Amino acid sequence: MKVDVLLGLQWGDEGKGKIVDVLTPGYDIVARFQGGPNAGHTLEFNSIKHILHTIPSGIFRPHQLNVIGNGVVIDPVVFKKEVEALTRLGIDLKNKLLISKKAHLILPSHRILDAASEAAKGHTKIGSTLKGIGPTYMDKTGRNGLRIGDIISPSFTEKYNFLKEKHKALLTIYDFPYHIEEQEKEWFEGIELIRKYEIIDSEVFINQQLLKGKKVLAEGAQGTLLDIDFGSYPFVTSSNTICAGACTGLGIAPSRIGEVLGVFKAYCTRVGSGPFPTEQDNDTGDTLRKTGNEFGSTTGRPRRCGWLDLVALKYSIMINGVTQLYMTKADVLSDFEIIKIAVSYKINGAETETLPYDLKNISKPKYIEMKGWKCDVSSITSAGEIPKELVNYIKFIEKETGLPVTIVSLGPDRKQIIFRR
Ligand code: GDP
Ligand code: IMO
Ligand code: MG
Repeated sequence: MKVDVLLGLQWGDEGKGKIVDVLTPGYDIVARFQGGPNAGHTLEFNSIKHILHTIPSGIFRPHQLNVIGNGVVIDPVVFKKEVEALTRLGIDLKNKLLISKKAHLILPSHRILDAASEAAKGHTKIGSTLKGIGPTYMDKTGRNGLRIGDIISPSFTEKYNFLKEKHKALLTIYDFPYHIEEQEKEWFEGIELIRKYEIIDSEVFINQQLLKGKKVLAEGAQGTLLDIDFGSYPFVTSSNTICAGACTGLGIAPSRIGEVLGVFKAYCTRVGSGPFPTEQDNDTGDTLRKTGNEFGSTTGRPRRCGWLDLVALKYSIMINGVTQLYMTKADVLSDFEIIKIAVSYKINGAETETLPYDLKNISKPKYIEMKGWKCDVSSITSAGEIPKELVNYIKFIEKETGLPVTIVSLGPDRKQIIFRR
């Protein structure tokens, strides 16, 4: 069998969590492949909203296994809180959650380093979620990191202290007050909890399951424009959020990739700093934020909002080899008379449809205007009921990208979803 990869095509928060939850019954295993508690994946059903940070979004379905892959970075404190919240809901995680030995650990001192680095950057800060993501991946690539597999070693505390002391030495370059010891108690409690879970060689497990004919859905975090290599660097996260990240983050071969399911919002949002060509820092942006409830799932920060950007979307499709598009939050556009879509950029007076090296250089995107549908679409239950203006909006995107939009999500709830073919 192949692994289908679901990922974000914009700056994150495209609605990946909701879609994974909807698709999970069609799979045997859901596996997160990168990122960490910087992610906030929201699911809604029975009028209750759930936000997951580390645990895959397949966890609410009764029959599927959920794997936290080697590419993920885990903060035991956040993990413990998530487990406790799910346990309160009566979800039996023990039989459903497996954790890779090779996933790296976020230490309290990684979080402090993240905060110190951001504070030192001042107005040039990345706008990090301050979850310790950057410093943890730095230690991974710098070959200093602690992994989940280390927690069963008798020398774990020694390794922990060694890395902590290294971080303390690094922190002397910043003028930043901190108290690691206060955070250590809950961190070690989180470690104790992780020890109770099945810690596995997830790359071997997943490949064995594929050979047995099991279906695997790989769940991405963040979005393509936040990718460490291809995003709007340096305003990116520290992992490969793209399809290739599923290979390295789960230990699956490229030939094992099946469908690449690209999720995008019917408009754009971005949280944190960095260029955003179609940003609407005006009433339009305010309306999108208000109607779309665009506030970060992890940090609560207001998200910057703007029109759909086809130049960026096509770039993301190319990098990922997307085979199907899933569009979310079209319901948020329901009140607009006119909806704009960026089709090209202007750089130094010249028009381009290619994403430039530095998005800062774009003077103005060129937009086409489409007529809005001006009606409530949130209770539509079949493709045939989609108003013609929204069908036109979808068809325009399909024509421009050459891909089918096979899912249209029209509200946060599990049930608010239309399958188009
Ligand atoms: P993720 O990080 O990609 O999983 O997305 P987030 O959960 O951070 O942000 C998406 C937000 O939009 C969440 O609050 C979802 O509940 C909500 N959402 C998802 N799909 C839709 C949709 O089609 N319409 C509306 N109105 N909200 C949606
Ligand atoms: P999900 O999975 C949106 C952004 C941060 C910041 C930059 C770097 O929910 O889509 P980091 O904490 O990784 O060092 O932050 O990336 N960012 C996200 N934005 N959704 C996310 O995840 C994000 N994860 C990180 O806001 O600009
Ligand atoms: Mg999110």
